[in-house]
Amino acid sequence: MNYDEIRKLFLNYFEQHGHKIVPSASLIPDDPTLLFTVAGMVPWKNIFLGNAAPEFPRVADVQKCIRAGGKHNDLDEVGFDGRHHTFFEMLGNWSFGDYFKEEAIKMSWDLLTNVLKLDPNRIVVTTHISDDEATALWKKIAGKDAIRLDKDNWWSAGDTGPCGPCTEMHYDMGADLPGGLPGSPNEDGGRYVEIWNDVFMQYNRDANGNLTNLPKCNVDTGAGLERWAAVMQGVRDNYDTDLFQHLMDATSDVVHVARNADNTPSFKIIADHLRAVGFAIADGVIPSNTDRGYVIRRILRRAMRHGQLLGHNGPLLSALYPALVREMGAAYPELAREEKHVVEIIKNEENAFRDMLQNGLKLLDSELPNVQNSVLPGAVAFKLFDTYGFPLDLTQMILRDRGMTVDVDGFDAAMREQKERSRADTRGTKVLWESVSDKVPATDDTTKYAPVADMSSKVLAILRNGEFVDSAVPGDNVEIALDKTNFYGTQGGQVGDTGELRIGADTVVTVAEAARAGNIVIHKGTVQKPINVGDKVVSVINPIVREQTTRAHTATHLLQAALRRVLNTDVEQRGSRVAPDSVRFDFSFGRAMTDDEKTAVENIVNDWIKQDMDVKHEEMSLDAAKSRGAMALFGEKYGDIVRVITAGDVSCELCGGTHVYHTGEIIRARINKEKSVASGIRRITMSVGNLAE
Ligand code: ALA
Repeated sequence: MNYDEIRKLFLNYFEQHGHKIVPSASLIPDDPTLLFTVAGMVPWKNIFLGNAAPEFPRVADVQKCIRAGGKHNDLDEVGFDGRHHTFFEMLGNWSFGDYFKEEAIKMSWDLLTNVLKLDPNRIVVTTHISDDEATALWKKIAGKDAIRLDKDNWWSAGDTGPCGPCTEMHYDMGADLPGGLPGSPNEDGGRYVEIWNDVFMQYNRDANGNLTNLPKCNVDTGAGLERWAAVMQGVRDNYDTDLFQHLMDATSDVVHVARNADNTPSFKIIADHLRAVGFAIADGVIPSNTDRGYVIRRILRRAMRHGQLLGHNGPLLSALYPALVREMGAAYPELAREEKHVVEIIKNEENAFRDMLQNGLKLLDSELPNVQNSVLPGAVAFKLFDTYGFPLDLTQMILRDRGMTVDVDGFDAAMREQKERSRADTRGTKVLWESVSDKVPATDDTTKYAPVADMSSKVLAILRNGEFVDSAVPGDNVEIALDKTNFYGTQGGQVGDTGELRIGADTVVTVAEAARAGNIVIHKGTVQKPINVGDKVVSVINPIVREQTTRAHTATHLLQAALRRVLNTDVEQRGSRVAPDSVRFDFSFGRAMTDDEKTAVENIVNDWIKQDMDVKHEEMSLDAAKSRGAMALFGEKYGDIVRVITAGDVSCELCGGTHVYHTGEIIRARINKEKSVASGIRRITMSVGNLAE
């Protein structure tokens, strides 16, 4: 039975038992306590809590999940046993105050033994030590004596929220395998594999650990599709199932290496990471240095390391994504729909990290002979992180192969010092740039609003470690001024472009952010190939980051207009930070917004997006703008000629940022949070585009 067949069989079974079948929710949860959807129950949390009414009392689905950070994190296990994944599919059935323990256990047992026809003698069940009821039910329904456990049979998605006792079904993969019964000291040996978990969601846990009853008794079940596939296909390793075999074959074709006993972990890890990275980006995650964007960046970089172990330094996950679409596109249409976008994002990430990976590994090799007691000094791990973009866990993963670890406290200390320095630096380098403004003329950035794809320019100055230098070498962190640029330098709350400077086909500098010092645009980044003052370079911005930031900026104007409609016209912007993965908007308002107000604001913004209104970008005199009623920012100074951004007839603002031409380009906006930041000032965080979808 292959994956498609198992998904169908599961859903059909529950449809026949009165369940409504629904598609998987996004991997990006509507829940600030979680980075990813870690289980099938995440999208239903508000129903369990009684905050939302269920549309159907019984539901079943196959949910995309990622467990790669926070409480549920399987990242380090992947590749070393046959049953862990960062991305996986969870089969689940739910009862929202409808059936409870008896019917849930009955259906699980019926499906496993009568439909899948698993040998009842190979199934072991566990229940919570407090749960006499479930224990008695197993005896009655299946004649089974449940093993009673404590922590392993209590389930919650996060540290707070809905939770309850659970009962797990484990399958005996074969007496010749190592490993003991669940709960025994050697339970992790691999002989018994958990194939289904029925959670009886009865309680809500608050931040102090107190349990209160949920309004209703609910059922939340979860079964790993990959494990079911292994059982049904008679293999002991999930990676030996059809889907993974196909992904690993595709990997073999891309890296031109055959699989063998030694290199198989790398193949497994690449196949796993392809799914996590591909699905997450298709759902709108953009690799970045924070939150879920950083989780995805780390996973992608780990995959590249394994490509490199297989002797492959070219495009990896970007080249493999079409294979993922082939394997899983029928079940998840978003994979094909977003293909172009996803491949482009992965390609950009891979290009930015490729040389850094090589150079970082060289540095690491040169440091290894000095390592004492198998612990790499924190300062070296930090240099790898800071200069070569090695996430700490990547360094740890590389060292684990050699039986070494990292001094994590030393790493954290180096990180703290660097933060201090960079706080001082941001003040410092602006002053340095201003001090040379007589020699380094204002950057011509007139094309920043309609950026040309590849712009030729000349290197005018290079700043490194507080000094202007004539040349820089790979690994140097630098700030570079060009005579002209297509990069938008951070200004007016909008975060600057990322991208790269090239000479010929070579990336010579990866630009992490374009900033501004007065009229000079400074390209901050890391040198990949030697670069000199006077060099002719081509500057290339990351189009996806730009597109997403642009959507976010226009959405911010719509947000302000909607707030003024719903709250009152005294609402005024007090600050903002417009980044590709999130918008932060601070405004004057004296109290917390109600849920109704937040929903109303979000709905208005999305209506305006749907209306696909024209957005006009115009330059005019400050007086003309004022007489048009353009909103200006409190306390901001403007020149005589200003830019005015007008969205339909709902918003008109003075603004120097980048904007869409039709509101429909924003796709969608979503308010994630509203909170106080100071007396009389509230902050909204919002996401837009595919991320909000
Ligand atoms: N929510 C339960 C789990 O993830 C079913 O194991």
